Amino acid sequence: MEHYTELLTKAISTLRQNDSGIFTKPGPRQYPHQWNWDSALIALGLSHFDLPRALTEIRALLTGQWRDGMLPHVVYHDKPSDYFPNPEFWQIKNSPDAPEVATSGITQPPVLASIIRQIHRRAPIRDFVDEVYPHLLRWHRWLHTARDADGSGLVYIIHPWESGTDDSPRWLEVMSKITPHDLPVFQRGDTKHVAAEERPFREDYERFIYLIDIFRRYNYEPSRLLAQSPFLIQDVLFNSVLFRANEDLRALALEVGESTAEVDDWLERMRANFDEHFWDSQRGLYLDYDLRTGRRIPVNTAMTFLPLYAGIASQEKAARLIKTYWLNPDEYSPGTRLHYAITSVSQKEPTWESRRYWRGPIWINLNWLLIIGLRSYGYDDLVEQLEQHSLELMQRWGFREYYDPQDGSGCGSLDFSWSAAVAIEMIENNVARRR
Ligand code: DGY
Repeated sequence: MEHYTELLTKAISTLRQNDSGIFTKPGPRQYPHQWNWDSALIALGLSHFDLPRALTEIRALLTGQWRDGMLPHVVYHDKPSDYFPNPEFWQIKNSPDAPEVATSGITQPPVLASIIRQIHRRAPIRDFVDEVYPHLLRWHRWLHTARDADGSGLVYIIHPWESGTDDSPRWLEVMSKITPHDLPVFQRGDTKHVAAEERPFREDYERFIYLIDIFRRYNYEPSRLLAQSPFLIQDVLFNSVLFRANEDLRALALEVGESTAEVDDWLERMRANFDEHFWDSQRGLYLDYDLRTGRRIPVNTAMTFLPLYAGIASQEKAARLIKTYWLNPDEYSPGTRLHYAITSVSQKEPTWESRRYWRGPIWINLNWLLIIGLRSYGYDDLVEQLEQHSLELMQRWGFREYYDPQDGSGCGSLDFSWSAAVAIEMIENNVARRR
């Protein structure tokens, strides 16, 4: 990892440059506020060289927590920008649960508890764990109550933005059934700084906004959203992240001397129902589950590998996934067409595109989650390849938001914070492992 010294220095200065005091912008122009799971990953990167600043990052995110426990996907603090949706658009003040600070009205994959546990493993932050544990517990409790429709322990999302994979082809079928009407007047901000060909199509974006309009009309009241939202999905990614976060929350509970009974119950229910909802035994894939139709969504994306991150897939299922899909050059593996791993969507999907947001590009956060999963199942060669490709892409093209798996070129936002943060984590972790 010696030859990554320069990359490490650049990654640190990228995080410093995007630092706005108490939070780090995910992208200096494209995303000028604080995003939930970006922020958690950024804190992990920061913790390697400025632990107090990493803790400030997390504290800033938690100021956005709603009174009912929801941790929103964006916290605006108070710096105006040209980002859309702006704070006023969300109209969160119509909800009695809204916090003081301006936020969005939806959540994002709950990776925070896992990140805090990782930081804690390396550094003594026991007082900090005492301080944040109740916030984490309240967020997870909210997820397991407000977002559990069937008592399965599996939670649902109500908006593609909650999945973190906005225009993933996983959502195409359900989104195509939604016909926006009386759409509020709005102007996209996301295509100002990034080429339109690398961003979601207009049809998708209009539906993103239409859904928010529904939610704000119902004042974000969970029971009304459950009844009304046309988008109601149990997402493999979200639930894999939550499962692992619950395990990490459990470990933190033991640390601070709290009972684990509630978390144990969530874990048990998730474990009992995960495969039944998500595993397609014919195709040998984990697929998202649409609660409105009661059917799995038959779209093959790299999210199918995330149960390895959760540690919830059996060895046999993991082996089948790797053999049939990961190592297949017609689906995911670098070979004739692709040169870098791992495309976020199987190339066999008809909507696959190499440069459009979540329709195929490589994402560094996803690679990082997959590295953790593959390592715990013993796929060391794949870990090495994924790590090498990720670092090489960042070295060659800078810290971009995503990368073209064909030629490796960077796409989306420049100077992207979580790519820099993950680079720090990968380089430092490897150095530590070799010591
Ligand atoms: C965006 O604005 O594109 C974000 O992904 C929403 O969180």
